[in-house]
Amino acid sequence: MLLNIESEIKEHKNMRSSVLKLLRSRAGNYISGEEIAKHLNVSRTAIWKHIRELKQTGYEIVSHAKRGYALMGTPDLLLPNEVKSVLKSDLLGKEVVHFFDTDSTNNEAKKLAADGAVEGTIVVSEAQNSGRGRLSRGFFSPASKGIWLSVILRPSFAPQHASKCTLVTAVAVTKAIEKFTGIRCGIKWPNDIFYEGKKLVGILTEMNAEMDAVNYIVIGIGINVNIAQAEFPEELQRIATSLQVISGNAIERKELLSQVLVELESAYLEILKNGFLHILGQAVNVIGIDQTFSGIAKDIDEDGALLVETENGVERVLAGDVSIRPKT
Ligand code: BTN
Repeated sequence: MLLNIESEIKEHKNMRSSVLKLLRSRAGNYISGEEIAKHLNVSRTAIWKHIRELKQTGYEIVSHAKRGYALMGTPDLLLPNEVKSVLKSDLLGKEVVHFFDTDSTNNEAKKLAADGAVEGTIVVSEAQNSGRGRLSRGFFSPASKGIWLSVILRPSFAPQHASKCTLVTAVAVTKAIEKFTGIRCGIKWPNDIFYEGKKLVGILTEMNAEMDAVNYIVIGIGINVNIAQAEFPEELQRIATSLQVISGNAIERKELLSQVLVELESAYLEILKNGFLHILGQAVNVIGIDQTFSGIAKDIDEDGALLVETENGVERVLAGDVSIRPKT
């Protein structure tokens, strides 16, 4: 019985996606209800109901008695249909799970992964009411103002390599932000991305593993996108920023998300093929409190320190005390 209801809901959603796809394919031009109905082999009344639901979700659809329907605008929401319409990655974003509000996308992703979700499934939420950071800190996640994202991976590498995923993700997100907005930010070891001393992105990697095999890794990424400076709570005012504050413009979240997935996917596939050395082998500038140097990021040791090969030998870069800017 439950399965029947579930498959009916799925079918209904698929039909709504197909209606939307047809409207999108006409890019602002009219398509008649009759044509949509014929194409999808359902009644015109069914189409009308789907259109009504799409409008309720925030799609701007105009209706004309003779000409039919035209899609004039899409909502600024990371709905699966919206994300999929701009997706350029193959593996990441294969399945998109969307919430309007949840405690934490990492929690949702862990539940889905434990229930067998496929690798590449992503979870996004417009808002998180208990967003989590490292060291049990909270993470400010207001509705539709950022990208609150978790990615499920099922890598073949050994569990001890999992912590390196945080650095790999930080490099990928930094690249995506630069490509999409032109903003060059720095990575603060091990899991934050900063711009001029203020936090822009936080990353939280969580893993479920046996002794020698990873069941799943959830990479949680929080990007402050369209948060006005005054919207940050008092305690974050001086230490957090957003892409909108830096650039002065509102940023298209779904396009940035798509770029993040492209960069992360290419780094992940590279790791699976050639291991971490290629990613780690990048030139970096280390800007510490009392020292600044350049070198090549070589490895991460058991204490989580980044090992950087410099002219004067190997330097250990410990958590929290440096900024690392990959040279492009
Ligand atoms: C940190 O600042 O220490 C890491 C913050 C990570 C935030 C992201 S937002 C999406 C995902 N869900 C969470 O609850 N946390 C991560």
